[in-house]
Amino acid sequence: MSPSATNGILDERIVSDISLPADVPESNQTAAGVPGDQLFSLKNQTILITGAGRGLGIELALGVVENGGHVAALDILDAPSAEWETLQKTAKLRGVTATYRKADITDEEDFVSAVAEISSRGRSLNAPLQGAIACAGIQQKIPTLEYPVADFEKMLRVNTIGSFITAKAVANDMVANKIQGSIVLIASMSGSIANRGLTCSAYNTSKAGVHQLCRSMAQEIGQYGIRINTLSPGYIRTAMTDALLAAEPEVEKTWMAGALLGRLGAPEDFKAPAVFLLSRGSSFVTGTDLRVDGGHTAAV
Ligand SMILES: NC(=O)c1ccc[n+]([C@@H]2O[C@H](COP(=O)([O-])OP(=O)(O)OC[C@H]3O[C@@H](n4cnc5c(N)ncnc54)[C@H](O)[C@@H]3O)[C@@H](O)[C@H]2O)c1
Repeated sequence: MSPSATNGILDERIVSDISLPADVPESNQTAAGVPGDQLFSLKNQTILITGAGRGLGIELALGVVENGGHVAALDILDAPSAEWETLQKTAKLRGVTATYRKADITDEEDFVSAVAEISSRGRSLNAPLQGAIACAGIQQKIPTLEYPVADFEKMLRVNTIGSFITAKAVANDMVANKIQGSIVLIASMSGSIANRGLTCSAYNTSKAGVHQLCRSMAQEIGQYGIRINTLSPGYIRTAMTDALLAAEPEVEKTWMAGALLGRLGAPEDFKAPAVFLLSRGSSFVTGTDLRVDGGHTAAV
């Protein structure tokens, strides 16, 4: 039935896609109502990143400073890897700061004090702690039938509980300071599928836990205007995967068989997706997973 053929009552309920009412309340509420060149800006924000001492985390830190944000890097390593120098140079050029502090994501007391320091510094820079990326993680490959319980527990402790400690501390700081922010948890495609050729049951279980943590926290912290999402990489060439491939070079063939773009991922492939999830461009995105795997899980 066409709208013109209705009795008038139905007409009132039809919202035309070409003539919206002048006052759409949601348009006044979203932070995304800015020109396109500001949608992905992280200007006047501090972004905390765990696992930013090397690998994916340090590359994501670069993505943040390149988009105008200050970075507070945390890692269990005593000092960050050589890429830190490039990060510092870029930060200087962009007029922002990049700081490094040693912290263990499984030590809640220390982590909460690190967040308090970062938040206070952010406010003094007029760049409040408005975003976080929980990127720290560990991997281990042992057949399930032999997996020691202590190792399985450690995997869950770092990858799942560490992500929880990070998100909880950052969200509490945002609530206390009335900041509407965004939290990104680096999960993995392995939180949704089992990887052919890899004996990583503990890792995969830990990442599935990160997916569910995201949905459950989103349901609770949306009321404060805080968003939380997972970013799930496929295979990336980093120190973590280099160690796996060094132990079993033939695994690369299995990985390449699922590489629809004919290559594995590079840390650079994750900068834009992470910046998107942190930025006002993703203002209506929460409780979801952004899978960036070069198509690996699209075809079996
Ligand atoms: N490399 C991949 O193919 C791949 C694929 C999917 C997901 N991921 C995820 O991406 C993230 C980064 O991985 P990566 O490949 O860069 O590995 P990586 O080993 O190079 O980096 C992980 C970082 O986390 C830090 N870390 C470990 N335990 C910590 C703790 N308790 N407290 C603080 N920091 C700690 C490490 O020191 C390291 O710097 C991880 O969460 C990983 O599970 C990686």
